[in-house]
Amino acid sequence: MTNDVDTVNQTLSQSLSQMITSVVSVLGVIVMMFSISWQMTLVALLILPVSMFLIRTIVNLSQRYFKEQQQYLGNANGTIEEMFGSHAVVKAFNGEERNIRDFEEVNGKLYGSAWKSQFLSGIMMPMMNFVGNVGYVGVVIVGGYLAAKKTIELGDIQAFIQYVRSFTQPISQIANISNVLQQTAAAAERVFEFLEEDEEAPDAADAKKPEKARGAVEFKDARFGYLEGKTVISDFSSTVEPGRRVAIVGPTGAGKTTLVKLLMRFYDVQSGAILVDGVDVREYARSDLRKLFGMVLQDTWLFNGTIMDNLRYGKPGASEEEVVAAAKAAHVDHFIRAFPEGYQTVLNEETTNISQGQKQLLTIARAILADPPMLILDEATSSVDTHTEVLIQKAMNALMKGRTSFIIAHRLSTIRDADWILVMDHGDIVEQGTHESLMAAGGFYAGLYNSQFEKLESA
Ligand SMILES: Nc1ncnc2c1ncn2[C@@H]1O[C@H](COP(=O)(O)OP(=O)(O)OP(=O)(O)O)[C@@H](O)[C@H]1O
Ligand SMILES: [Mg+2]
Repeated sequence: MTNDVDTVNQTLSQSLSQMITSVVSVLGVIVMMFSISWQMTLVALLILPVSMFLIRTIVNLSQRYFKEQQQYLGNANGTIEEMFGSHAVVKAFNGEERNIRDFEEVNGKLYGSAWKSQFLSGIMMPMMNFVGNVGYVGVVIVGGYLAAKKTIELGDIQAFIQYVRSFTQPISQIANISNVLQQTAAAAERVFEFLEEDEEAPDAADAKKPEKARGAVEFKDARFGYLEGKTVISDFSSTVEPGRRVAIVGPTGAGKTTLVKLLMRFYDVQSGAILVDGVDVREYARSDLRKLFGMVLQDTWLFNGTIMDNLRYGKPGASEEEVVAAAKAAHVDHFIRAFPEGYQTVLNEETTNISQGQKQLLTIARAILADPPMLILDEATSSVDTHTEVLIQKAMNALMKGRTSFIIAHRLSTIRDADWILVMDHGDIVEQGTHESLMAAGGFYAGLYNSQFEKLESA
């Protein structure tokens, strides 16, 4: 994308203005030539069809290679980035040789199409010069003949020859630019393909502002699938009263994260509805809706910047004391202080300079700092040791008192004192209730719960 946009940019800022200059000079020169001698002008104009023919032939040949070059350039860059990004995986599976081979293949293709397209566009200029010179000779011969017959003055021939020179130069420039335009067309095609992707549905024009959030959430026959014909959430219905701590449990791939994404409106349900405080989430503006939720996701999201900036992201105006207090609540303060630069430690691009658990704690601290009316924790403490997890839970319990929260966890021991447990399987609620009632029922949840402890015993 970067290459393609760059190519289009360069054409628009350079070649296009050159093109206009060239066309205008050709027209001006033709007018001046006719004013001197129409016979000689006709000879000079013979250059045009010959040039056109040559340009057409070369452009037709090179167009294909330009398209390929643009595509292979994208592939090569993509391959390089991927290899750098997954460096550890490559090493772990001894994939160096394979990767080098892959790269050489992509690079070879790029090399092949690049030299062909560059060669073809390279011979354009000398060829045009040659045609121009042949025309020049023709003009000189006709001019000499006319001068001998005394139909034109010597000075006119002199002037005319100058014009022929400034006639062929812009023509070869036009030829050159038409080559660049080929490359641009290939690049623009790829850019527009991307731009034509479907847009997110716009917010409702008369979007409602959430009042003082109570935190009631209701799923009404919500149905959703990422891909057409492949339902992930089927007819999901449940009511969550304000202030409840709701746990969502279920096997991997059951649709727990999907449910949370629907709640935050990263996707819209295909039928049914999700209501927050009695209002369909589609009637809120997305930004207002998301303000209601604090979210700690399964895949921790931190950016390249200081720890302080990362924590402040949820509440830009927060004072240093507030940030430290949030970090303490998330039990990450002592980790941060262990770094030589403390809160000013810069997280690198891939955030590989801190551990997975520390990342999770940082995202929790960020959510605590943002102090949202509702909180969603998706496997937020899965990489944290069990002792710290219990401590965080206590902090969370205090923080979330009286606020609605959704907690997704695989370690069932961590959610046993949730107010309400939704048990999901294959995109549907198979059971719901408190830990005690579900255990007493002896159904799916009891099976899940017991299996976690059976494993421990048999181990
Ligand atoms: N972006 C996506 N495009 C297509 N299918 C998806 C996408 N994200 C998830 N899925 C599919 O939707 C189903 C539910 O995924 P989801 O992430 O909600 O599971 P989960 O319950 O959160 O699982 P886990 O416990 O592993 O986090 C899975 O079968 C998955 O393959
Ligand atoms: Mg998930």
